[in-house]
Amino acid sequence: TPVAMDTIVALAKRRGFVFQGSEIYGGLANTWDYGPLGVELRRNIKNAWWHFFVQLRRDIVGLDGSILLHPRAWEASGHVDEFNDPLVDCRNCQTRYRADNLIEERLGRNVDGATIEEMTRVIKESNLACPVCGQRDWTEVRQFNLMFRTFLGPVEASGTQAFLRPETAQAIFLDYRNVLQSSRVKIPFGIAQIGKAFRNEITPGNFIFRLLEFEQMEIEYFIRPEGWEPVFEEWLDAMQAFFRFIGLGEARLRQREHGPDELSHYSKRTVDFEYEFPFGWKELCGLAYRTDFDLRRHQEYSGVDLTYFDQATGERFLPHVVEPTMGVERLMLALMVDAYHEEDAVDVAGKPYRRVVLRFHPRMAPYKAAVLPLMKKPELVAKANEVWDLLRPEFPTDYDETQSIGRRYRRQDEIGTPFCVTIDYDTLEDDSVTIRDRDSMEQVRVPIAELVPTLRERLER
Ligand code: GAP
Repeated sequence: TPVAMDTIVALAKRRGFVFQGSEIYGGLANTWDYGPLGVELRRNIKNAWWHFFVQLRRDIVGLDGSILLHPRAWEASGHVDEFNDPLVDCRNCQTRYRADNLIEERLGRNVDGATIEEMTRVIKESNLACPVCGQRDWTEVRQFNLMFRTFLGPVEASGTQAFLRPETAQAIFLDYRNVLQSSRVKIPFGIAQIGKAFRNEITPGNFIFRLLEFEQMEIEYFIRPEGWEPVFEEWLDAMQAFFRFIGLGEARLRQREHGPDELSHYSKRTVDFEYEFPFGWKELCGLAYRTDFDLRRHQEYSGVDLTYFDQATGERFLPHVVEPTMGVERLMLALMVDAYHEEDAVDVAGKPYRRVVLRFHPRMAPYKAAVLPLMKKPELVAKANEVWDLLRPEFPTDYDETQSIGRRYRRQDEIGTPFCVTIDYDTLEDDSVTIRDRDSMEQVRVPIAELVPTLRERLER
């Protein structure tokens, strides 16, 4: 059974992975800040993604588009008209629900693809009680657009309205022509981007699972109009390979095909990768075949020719697109849940205790090593600082001289540091240190001169 969500939330706060946003003002619901360890974990996820999908590949280049796009872009993309959730309010207690979720959870009925009139009728006819107050007085179901609105310039007039992007993808379509003209890419090729996205979700929640502000890692992979099926399969495999690369266990991963009524307005086929979170199997990330929907619409709305000229065949066409997309926060949560282990152990003083350890893949661990003087004595502290100075330029390294050595090991286990490097009185004599392995808890003695290559070798094993 997966770990309880409360346990993860408490650990995340206690150890500095995730803090409630605006906490000293009582918090701003569904916003979160990433502390010293959280920020390292997020960077590791993003760096691994960039390494795996951009640096290692011949056919993908990067982009960093802006969050604000020309408002027409969101009309062209279909988000102004289509990026809606059906909403219903209880007139009595004012609680707001996503109508389709409410119907599914309370009545066990799937209303994917139903109109808002049909959902209104289902709620009325089933005499559904509000889960909060028990009353049965509902508003009509209405569409609610998920895009965050803002205003450009000082006047809140309609001509100045803009949107914070709800997906990073669109900047890629807007810059696709610039990338073609400025680089040497040839179809098939991809453009990759990492960046913030914003959605005014009606029912955010489950910690960092559904957020108002989150970060996406997306690739638009441009292909010829025919023969998308094998490319789609290749991308399913590539995404699976990425999960292995970051050490996400396959036991809690599965693929789920979207039904025809469930597909986004731009998609002809979508497969979600679902992860078994403590609150159930939920979408981790996805792969979509967006056809030429986006380029066609942007061509139409902008009046700019977005066709591709194939030198080899002399053909001109609008490329089609396969899109792998991942959310940083969902991956972060999945990695934490996956890494979490509890076991019975015995501490350095021979006392049994319940050991909590985050078994991150070394590539994901916020700190790769921690330097610990056995005791807080000046000569040990001085030597430990020398060792810390030696390790910090090589990889993120923690240092801790407070509390007993046993408690410091426990702290490092809880934040998933693969190796603890302990400096004791023998170190002052023989210039050697003890390396303690997070997973096996085995200790080996290594000369300081060999410390960096030894740790490197073991981190890459
Ligand atoms: N460009 C395609 C797209 O945006 P999506 O399935 O709506 O597709 C992609 O979002 C990914 O972004 C999701 O699989 C998820 O990982 C992440 N994501 C979406 N909405 C989110 C939210 N409200 N909070 C956190 N992550 C979210």
